Amino acid sequence: MRRARRAAAAPGGALEDAVEAMRRCDVLAGVSAMEGGIERVYLSPEHARANAQAGEWLELAGMRAWEDAAGNIRGSYPGATEDAPVLVLGSHLDTVPDAGRYDGILGVMIAIAVVGRLHAHGARLPFGIEVIGFADEEGVRFGRTLLGSCAVAGTWDEAWLDLADGDGVTLRDALAAFGLDPARVGDAALDPARVVGYLEAHIEQGPLLLDAGRPLGVVSGIMGAKRFDLAMEGEAGHAGGVPMRHRRDALLGAATAALAVEQVALAEGVVGTVGEMRVAPGAANVIPGRAEFSLDVRAATDAERDRAWARIRALAVEAAGARRLQFTESLRHVAPATSSERRLSEAVEHGISVATGDREPMELLSKAGHDAMAIAALAPYAMLFVRCGNGGVSHQPDESVEVGDVALAIDAFEAAILAVAQRWQPLA
Ligand code: GLV
Ligand code: MN
Ligand code: MN
Repeated sequence: MRRARRAAAAPGGALEDAVEAMRRCDVLAGVSAMEGGIERVYLSPEHARANAQAGEWLELAGMRAWEDAAGNIRGSYPGATEDAPVLVLGSHLDTVPDAGRYDGILGVMIAIAVVGRLHAHGARLPFGIEVIGFADEEGVRFGRTLLGSCAVAGTWDEAWLDLADGDGVTLRDALAAFGLDPARVGDAALDPARVVGYLEAHIEQGPLLLDAGRPLGVVSGIMGAKRFDLAMEGEAGHAGGVPMRHRRDALLGAATAALAVEQVALAEGVVGTVGEMRVAPGAANVIPGRAEFSLDVRAATDAERDRAWARIRALAVEAAGARRLQFTESLRHVAPATSSERRLSEAVEHGISVATGDREPMELLSKAGHDAMAIAALAPYAMLFVRCGNGGVSHQPDESVEVGDVALAIDAFEAAILAVAQRWQPLA
């Protein structure tokens, strides 16, 4: 194990690679639409700048870099033969509003660091490697997540072109303004017959590794998620003139539904979040006539997720009835629960053992969504989790990782890829 660790770290040293990977996360943190914070959404000027920067790093690591038909930035590293299939590595470069600097970004930088090492050694594996910085995982701009990875997986849906952002700009128009052809986004798809598998490194976005005192973990699968646009319609009125008992206050109905989400999630062992709420007409002296809110519900299996939603829905309908409101629902996004592939996960476990000496790496079910769940439609996947600091917080500026953990992650990811190469048998 020691020997493998030393070999993996040559020639620059794991710590040096980790410092550089984190410096690159800092550089991208500065590519932001938000004053004093990080926000980088799909098909924005910041997306273009981040791709240009990531493209330079891909080339520095010995790859040919290009932007694909969906706006993902990609780099290819050749295999031992010209017709070799590819192992895909990646994560995303887009962010939520007021984001941390590591969610998604660190995984791309770890992948680039590992290919940089292979390049420095002149290594050629039985497969080529493609590193992808996915352009949209968070779904912030158009409400539908995983657009970049769905395009690569071949599950891009033309109907999504009609989705509009908060300013009414359609995905079709945003793609064209970015310089992409909306009719050709499907060209980003990889041929499943040419893909060996997909490996993604990502920060954990939770406290389990931190609590267990372990720097790295292997992901067993990713929870299934559904997102809804919900609304309560009541009647606006004068905040002074309308007696309390006569009111049809839409916000109170929405608030009752939000509390029901917490109640059901706790009872059913799932996670549910109301992360958006808009009240109209929105004035201190007007009773809310309409409240629109989101729901994100996730569970280990699709059946558990759907059972929780059915209970939440029943309680929301009841809350609406009690206040003479109209409740409406619209499904925004569905992601089925997925499992990582056993042999690829064993390679990740092997990588963790090589890097850390931990013979029984910790296994975690991811409650956060990842590009891997979209790529699962294309190829088997496995994931490496890196411990988060600060109690495991993510999706906010206090997100943190330790440089020593990033060094171990780079070593582990490299060892995992070498293990896949060693065990992989080309088709006859
Ligand atoms: C993405 O970060 C998600 O889990 O929503
Ligand atoms: Mn995220
Ligand atoms: Mn992420």
